[in-house]
Amino acid sequence: MHFEKMETCLHPNIKIDNLLPEIGKKEVIKKILAGLTCKNKYISSIFLYDEKGSRLFEEITRLPEYYIPRIEKSLIRNAATYLNDWLQNVNIVEYGCGDCSKISILLESISTENLNTVCYTPVDVSHSAILESANILLNNFCGLRIHIVLADFVKQVGLIPGAGRRIFCLFGSTIGNLTREQALRFCKNVAGIMRPNDLFLLGMDMVKSREILFKAYNDSLNITSEFNRNILNVVNKLIGTDFDPRSFEHLAFFNEEKARIEMHLRAKKDIDTFSPYCSKKITIKKGETIHTENSHKFTNEHIKELAKTAGFEIQEIFTDEHNWFSLVLFSKYNQELPYHV
Ligand code: AVI
Repeated sequence: MHFEKMETCLHPNIKIDNLLPEIGKKEVIKKILAGLTCKNKYISSIFLYDEKGSRLFEEITRLPEYYIPRIEKSLIRNAATYLNDWLQNVNIVEYGCGDCSKISILLESISTENLNTVCYTPVDVSHSAILESANILLNNFCGLRIHIVLADFVKQVGLIPGAGRRIFCLFGSTIGNLTREQALRFCKNVAGIMRPNDLFLLGMDMVKSREILFKAYNDSLNITSEFNRNILNVVNKLIGTDFDPRSFEHLAFFNEEKARIEMHLRAKKDIDTFSPYCSKKITIKKGETIHTENSHKFTNEHIKELAKTAGFEIQEIFTDEHNWFSLVLFSKYNQELPYHV
């Protein structure tokens, strides 16, 4: 692993480190083909996010049925008030940063004179998206320093640099897209790199009525359906197949036993396709499904259990009146309350 210095003429307040390992195209192709040629077919949800997929996801975040961003933003406001004086001389590390609307809420709570004591460290895989957000932030928050880290935050938590007092943030229920085991491992790794006085702010979507959850993933404008089916365009580009997304229907339902929304694509007819990278024909029978995403939901017991197993102490849970979404503030287990001193 190496820290590769990238741009030479950046804004003087931006620094970039590239920690991304080279992932071979071969590996990606192998992974997709394995999922499409096995019994219970699947495509990893990471392939939902090409340029079109990311744009569609942005549209989802503005849908009235998709309550997560709306509630979470108001909870971040509450967290910012709660943290108040704590947010100075601090390094704000945001995993999977997306656009800058959420972090802006934390930054808005910092006084102008204190902004130059703060460093924002966004960690994500997309160089262009992260740089665009960084430039927007610098226009709005003069004096802020930004240390961009290009990395896969799930696999590379331990490598994320950051001096001084830190608050790690993972917003938007991204944790729900990991398996329960991956989520726990990720949290353990975060706890492992936390020092006394560091904090971790984690967005968690809660278990709620089936109807609300169903509508959030089956919106009336069918944007989620388009987002889901677009994964086939991404696959076509990567493995040279000719799937027609219109031959599939979007399926999203709440799996009660596993407390998660599952997204699938169901074939409307028998489908045969070839990939130049596979000697076998890829066949999908009418009615057969391809699993494309899991979105795990949490209960208060899950939160307590996660804290206990990962090695956190729960400092505060910010939630809405219906407990639809929780923003949980953790510190490392067994330490003094850092912001009460
Ligand atoms: C990115 N992630 C938290 C979203 C979710 O709710 O699991 C992705 C998404 N899938 C369908 N709609 C939104």
